[in-house]
Amino acid sequence: MSADNPFDAMFSGVIGREYDMLKLICPFATEMSRLVGLEIGDFCRGHASPASVVELGGGTGITTLAILSAAENCRVLSIDSEPTMQNQAKLSLQDWVQQGRLDFSGQDALSALRDLPADSADAVASAYTLHNFEAGYRRQVLAEIYRVLKPGGIFVNGDRYGLDDIDAHTRATQQEVAGYFKVLTGIDRLDLLEHWIIHLFSDESENHVMRESIALAQMAEAGFGKIQLKRRMDVNALVTAAKNAG
Ligand SMILES: C[S@@+](CC[C@H](N)C(=O)[O-])C[C@H]1O[C@@H](n2cnc3c(N)ncnc32)[C@H](O)[C@@H]1O
Repeated sequence: MSADNPFDAMFSGVIGREYDMLKLICPFATEMSRLVGLEIGDFCRGHASPASVVELGGGTGITTLAILSAAENCRVLSIDSEPTMQNQAKLSLQDWVQQGRLDFSGQDALSALRDLPADSADAVASAYTLHNFEAGYRRQVLAEIYRVLKPGGIFVNGDRYGLDDIDAHTRATQQEVAGYFKVLTGIDRLDLLEHWIIHLFSDESENHVMRESIALAQMAEAGFGKIQLKRRMDVNALVTAAKNAG
């Protein structure tokens, strides 16, 4: 967000300060972080030494905590470019930092990935972050995730993946909006309602929307194998992929 562009994903404003209200309007968001954590946990159990996990868009720490709790055998580098969000994670997850299991980077995802060596991460995990990226930036991020992963490493992303059936996608989004109104007018939070609706316009814009078939094809183009959409809940989906073991 900038003076020229006051409305983008807006995690620096009221959405960021009261991000935990998301669970009221999108209960599946918290469940998605848990699912991402479980995938990483399953993967790490197969590792003798602690797995290095790079998390993109750690936000307030919901997904980070899910990963750290599900996978004892891992260390996480949590990347998020928005201090309003990341500072909340730094506060609530300081025990993990002290245990040497968690580090933070305040860089944007692409710059942070570019600074990491090739073949250096066992897993890259993310929830509800890549859909915020402009399409060209997202393509570059996918290529960097692939480069940074070790052969055999995995990418786990729980996110908004637009339905290929556009009518079904529109209906699901309309229901989502109706839910926002019901919940947030019910608790008299018209300020939050305004910001989440504006945010949704960014999510649904043509240069952001992450349509399922296109997104999975882009992952294949980046080199990923074993691409699986493991679970779908309305416009939300859990996607996993792997860098070929070589
Ligand atoms: C919707 S939140 C998700 C947070 C957390 N994963 C969760 O599910 O609760 C998306 C996060 O991605 C971060 N983000 C957006 N664009 C980013 C970028 N280019 N680089 C790094 N972080 C970014 C935002 O600051 C925000 O904290």
